[in-house]
Amino acid sequence: MTILHFDSSINGENSASRAISARVVEQVQSLNWGEQVVYRDLAADPLAHLTLDAFADTSVLDEFLAADTIVIGAPMYNFTLSTQLKAWIDRILIAGKTFRYTENGPEGLAGERRVIIALARGGIYDVGSPAAALEHLESYLRGIFNFIGIEPEFVAADGLAISPEVRETAIAQALGETVRLAA
Ligand SMILES: Cc1cc2nc3c(=O)[nH]c(=O)nc-3n(C[C@H](O)[C@H](O)[C@H](O)COP(=O)(O)O)c2cc1C
Repeated sequence: MTILHFDSSINGENSASRAISARVVEQVQSLNWGEQVVYRDLAADPLAHLTLDAFADTSVLDEFLAADTIVIGAPMYNFTLSTQLKAWIDRILIAGKTFRYTENGPEGLAGERRVIIALARGGIYDVGSPAAALEHLESYLRGIFNFIGIEPEFVAADGLAISPEVRETAIAQALGETVRLAA
């Protein structure tokens, strides 16, 4: 049983997504005592951009397939995910391994894994809000994990750039929400 934990924020100790993803891992570990955690900091130790040659190295895919639970810290940069996290996704969406095309359409092959994503966004993107159409982080991550057969769970801290007070409240709320993951 392995928890695979990723962070991808460039903000180091001041990162909200790092604080929340760490709390998620704590909560998941409290459910599964003794579970091994493998940690990858995609900002400190980035994967290279995808190349054809990179497909020959399946180590990132193999690590993903070996995990039962994947916890991801995902900050919003320019309305979507960090390029560091995208480089990881480029290595796990592999035809014949995590999805395949059938006569009835695409089929996910990577189900039976739990994926929990800690989102941190400077603005507010709720349905009906002025910036809703620019939300390409949660929607993208939900889409790609659904595509490979996984329904991801999200914990979000939003409006972090609005004011220090909103930031503090939003992070506290998200940290509190991680408790429901252990319910
Ligand atoms: C380079 C950069 C781009 C950002 N772009 C957006 C954006 O498009 N929309 C948004 O709501 N917040 C944006 N933000 C704010 C971050 O989403 C916010 O600071 C969040 O806390 C980042 O997560 P972190 O604290 O884990 O680093 C941006 C921040 C940075 C540093």
